[in-house]
Amino acid sequence: MNKKKLLVTGASGMLGQALCACLESRGHDVVPMPKEALDVTNYDQVAKVLSESEPDLVLHCAAYTKVDQAESEPDLAFLINGYGTENLAVVCSKLEIPLLYFSSDYVFDGNNDKPYTTWDPTRPLSVYGRSKLAGEKAVMRHLRDFYIVRTSWLYGPFGRNFVDTIHAKAQELPELKIVSDQVGTPTCTLSLSEMVADLISTGRYGVYHATDDGVTNWYDFAREICKGLDVTIKPIPTKEYPLPATRPSYSVLDKTTLISTIGREPQSWQESLHNYLELKKVKATAAKR
Ligand SMILES: NC(=O)c1ccc[n+]([C@@H]2O[C@H](COP(=O)([O-])OP(=O)(O)OC[C@H]3O[C@@H](n4cnc5c(N)ncnc54)[C@H](OP(=O)(O)O)[C@@H]3O)[C@@H](O)[C@H]2O)c1
Repeated sequence: MNKKKLLVTGASGMLGQALCACLESRGHDVVPMPKEALDVTNYDQVAKVLSESEPDLVLHCAAYTKVDQAESEPDLAFLINGYGTENLAVVCSKLEIPLLYFSSDYVFDGNNDKPYTTWDPTRPLSVYGRSKLAGEKAVMRHLRDFYIVRTSWLYGPFGRNFVDTIHAKAQELPELKIVSDQVGTPTCTLSLSEMVADLISTGRYGVYHATDDGVTNWYDFAREICKGLDVTIKPIPTKEYPLPATRPSYSVLDKTTLISTIGREPQSWQESLHNYLELKKVKATAAKR
């Protein structure tokens, strides 16, 4: 194994925490940078931290991720996701450090009838999606050695997410109404981290789509989360649950490039979910002791 010094931005976030743990378990020298230690909107701080720590690669998990709130504070979303990423890209370029940027399925408009490839045109429908695309463009503008990893519908042990919310609500309420006309792929941060660890060991830069395997909608995802629980789940159309940000109705990502690069298929979203729910159960039992 080629041990690397890896600096992770947004290291206290949901993905940041899972990724740091995974990379450490693979024997890398991980430098976790939470927002308090590295604010990506502060160019001088970015320059100081990167030149002092001299990592072999920066993995950029820091982001503005409040999809609906972004509609009412676009300047902040673009400051963090656009200019913040640009700061990192400029400094990485000067110091000749490669950068891995996490992006989103929300850079697409959802009008496809088959999974989006890495070369399909982007057309975000929301401020959040546009700001993530601005980050992608900043990375491509300044760097030759970069990975852009688009992922979707994340959940995992270290942050507020759909699985935990639905699981908790299912124990409180007799019935849940969940939208059934948005199609995509749920992805656990634990399995995404393993894919990313495999990817960076190849040194093959480029744009990748990395999600768990398979296709579902939020209603069927919720049914799988609540299997065995005493709750009724009803499908509703998006128009009955209006939110400030428009989501793509279809955002399945084609992972062919990733699969041929890392040499393996991602695990199914059902398997990742099952593993995560088991982990939750073990943690809950341990907390009661
Ligand atoms: N969650 C999803 O469903 C999803 C789907 C597709 C792609 N992604 C992408 O995956 C990546 C990780 O997302 P996540 O779910 O782990 O998000 P998250 O839990 O919100 O983590 C983002 C982290 O970035 C930090 N941050 C915010 N502003 C910052 C700044 N100016 N400088 C440094 N750090 C800052 C946040 O700190 P505070 O919380 O203290 O502000 C938080 O710790 C992001 O690029 C996101 O766009 C996420």
